[in-house]
Amino acid sequence: MAKTIRVGLVGAKFAARFHWTGLGRVHGVNVEVVGVTAKSPESREAFALTRGIKSFDTFEALCGAVDVIDLCTPGSAHEPLAVAAFQRGKHVIIEKPFTGFYGPGTQDFRGDTFSKEVMLREAMASCDRILTAARAAGKQLGYAENWVYAPAITKEAEIVKKSGAQILWMIGDESHSGSHSPYYGIWKFSGGGSLVGKGCHPLSAILHLKRVEGEATGGKAIRPATVSARTHEITRLKNFRDAGFLRTNYEDIEDYGQVHVTFEDGTVADVFSTEIVLGGVHNWLEVFANNHRTRCNLNPVDALVTYNPREEFLKDVYVTEKIGTKQGWSNPAPDEDWQHGYPQEFQDFMTSFAANRSPLSSGELARDTIAVLYSAYVSAERRGAEVNLS
Ligand SMILES: NC(=O)c1ccc[n+]([C@@H]2O[C@H](COP(=O)([O-])OP(=O)(O)OC[C@H]3O[C@@H](n4cnc5c(N)ncnc54)[C@H](O)[C@@H]3O)[C@@H](O)[C@H]2O)c1
Repeated sequence: MAKTIRVGLVGAKFAARFHWTGLGRVHGVNVEVVGVTAKSPESREAFALTRGIKSFDTFEALCGAVDVIDLCTPGSAHEPLAVAAFQRGKHVIIEKPFTGFYGPGTQDFRGDTFSKEVMLREAMASCDRILTAARAAGKQLGYAENWVYAPAITKEAEIVKKSGAQILWMIGDESHSGSHSPYYGIWKFSGGGSLVGKGCHPLSAILHLKRVEGEATGGKAIRPATVSARTHEITRLKNFRDAGFLRTNYEDIEDYGQVHVTFEDGTVADVFSTEIVLGGVHNWLEVFANNHRTRCNLNPVDALVTYNPREEFLKDVYVTEKIGTKQGWSNPAPDEDWQHGYPQEFQDFMTSFAANRSPLSSGELARDTIAVLYSAYVSAERRGAEVNLS
């Protein structure tokens, strides 16, 4: 009988909920989610009670009981917890953003005015500390970037690989009406705004697809070379008129970002991410290649197209993430987790950890993503000037 992989969750809110569900869908590998810890005793107790798992008072106690630590905490907690877990000989899953810069520890820190060059340098040092700890432990790191595993992206990766495509341009977007997390919106917890919180998803998928193309055609990944970007704070404009539909209480982060990436082969990609989009999450990526063109729709998808004349009819029916209203036409997701790639992500993590090999969404992809995002902040500080990725 194969060994059971024991997993411990850190964090007990939104991400922990879909990690729990995703881990429960893993097949062919024995997985047991042993327990959970979180900052607030009430939330970890409630999470544990409803799922019949143990609530651990401390991170250290949780580490003592598991083989895998699964970080569902804000970005600011990722590096210290990941390094501590690796030092205790655990495999580690890290949610996005992988890591970043969370301030020098001073009271007056504001992310919107702090030097972005310093941020880039420190964020890359943070990436390297995590990757060094993983190597020293001989353990694996799963970067929880679900877009890499979303069926729309994996099918496109197959098309790119089998058709020998050259991808010339990609454009992608993840946007919605604002994160529910109280940590998001404050740079010292989130490490940035729309770019880091949302743009990371299409960006990682783009970096992954250029990697797939490079490995299929030339034997090695095609890496990003330069970045130009703009960021804006639209809901903090003096003349913004709040109609009550968008989240607005951001402290020192951008709520709109766009990034233009050039790759080492001269091809290009564009990423958009904002907090000002009504009507549900807006997650898509379009690929323009020399031999095909693909639109990857992650959410919404039109497997179901439903007209509902009265809001209350669907009050007990989940429709799609951040839809706002269920009245009128909508696209209820038959299996939103699957469409987002969550179960497939945990399947790869558990299978890879069992064999002690790197999963598809790896530390290298995580590091490239952070390098592009924080270089984008340097560019935005220079009002869009091109920045070389070293
Ligand atoms: N991949 C995705 O689609 C996706 C979606 C949502 C969130 N996320 C990511 O998941 C992570 C968590 O997001 P969320 O929405 O669940 O956040 P949240 O703010 O709702 O919950 C954070 C949880 O972490 C706990 N926590 C915070 N600091 C801690 C610490 N130092 N030690 C132990 N526990 C700590 C809190 O008590 C809370 O339970 C973030 O990195 C976020 O970017 C990813």
